[in-house]
Amino acid sequence: MAILLTGGSGFIGSHTAVELINAKEKVVIVDDLSNSSEVIIDKIEKITGIRPEFRKLDVADKAALDAVFTEFPIDGVIHFAGFKAVGESVAKPIEYYRNNLDTTLTLLEVVRAHNCKKLIFSSSATVYGDNSPAPFREDAPTGNCTNPYGWTKYMIEQILQGVAKACPEMSIVLLRYFNPIGAHESGLIGERPNGIPNNLLPYITQTAIGIRDHLSIYGDDYPTPDGTGVRDYIHVVDLAKGHVAAYKYACQNTGAEVFNLGTGIGYSVLDVVKAFEKANQIKVKYEISPRRPGDIATCYSDPSKAAKLLGWKAEKNLVDMCRDAWRWQQNC
Ligand code: WQD
Repeated sequence: MAILLTGGSGFIGSHTAVELINAKEKVVIVDDLSNSSEVIIDKIEKITGIRPEFRKLDVADKAALDAVFTEFPIDGVIHFAGFKAVGESVAKPIEYYRNNLDTTLTLLEVVRAHNCKKLIFSSSATVYGDNSPAPFREDAPTGNCTNPYGWTKYMIEQILQGVAKACPEMSIVLLRYFNPIGAHESGLIGERPNGIPNNLLPYITQTAIGIRDHLSIYGDDYPTPDGTGVRDYIHVVDLAKGHVAAYKYACQNTGAEVFNLGTGIGYSVLDVVKAFEKANQIKVKYEISPRRPGDIATCYSDPSKAAKLLGWKAEKNLVDMCRDAWRWQQNC
């Protein structure tokens, strides 16, 4: 039996493929390569010694996706495929709703046609919006998202909850990621944003290596200890291992279940800059800029449910994240 990873050559998907292969699972990756490249498949093979099956396709292409389920004995799916840049989603809402919802609805139709019973969904802490104070528990209010990207994740969670009610024999796990950063220790895979990075860590590493002149820190007047935004940064390898634990959970349970994947620790932007400088003995030039529209002051998780039900807990610290991110930047 095999596990299908949609969008599996992306940042989170590729790291999850490595950890699933390390856990002796057979992995099939489908990806349209709009935000990654087929070289990643070679890198996964180099890290694990096993080459995952790969088919280039748009998950919204029903015939192409159906053919993969016919070709391989797909036992379950981890659904990463989707556009994921918060700022871009504000500028391109139609493309975000069309792509993220179409891919999901097509996948669900094919999953049903092939009687596949397990689905893990890549959701996001953005569904919590600014509805309640951190730390966020899974039963905290969701919705009132501050951008179309967050709304697509919220809507897909509603779709999947409905599918779980209609198909009680299915197991659907919704994983709400906090802020994934870092890279595999090999330096062979990591986060490679197209164009100007939206996210903090890639912008820091590109500033440190000289690609960017300086980091703009979006606001130092938030109600936080040093005035800069606070987030729950989690090492991408810990996040990937959380998917392995979630898949095992899905094999033993039915129904829909939501889990936060975070560390439960909030760090400010300045905390991250200082940790990066110390871990890598390099200066990061920065300037304070106005707040970024859509940002909230503080977002971090209560990860206790995943510890209790998945037996999973993030193990790597901020220094690990900064060191691994820097090694990747120097290699890529
Ligand atoms: C982090 C902090 C910024 C860039 C988003 C998505 C979330 C997830 C992670 C996919 C904030 C500050 C950033 C910069 C800065 N993505 N910042 N200068 O917005 O918390 O979360 O990415 O799942 O779903 O919403 O991440 O890295 O953009 O920002 O000062 O150049 O760094 O203001 O406080 P964010 P981020």
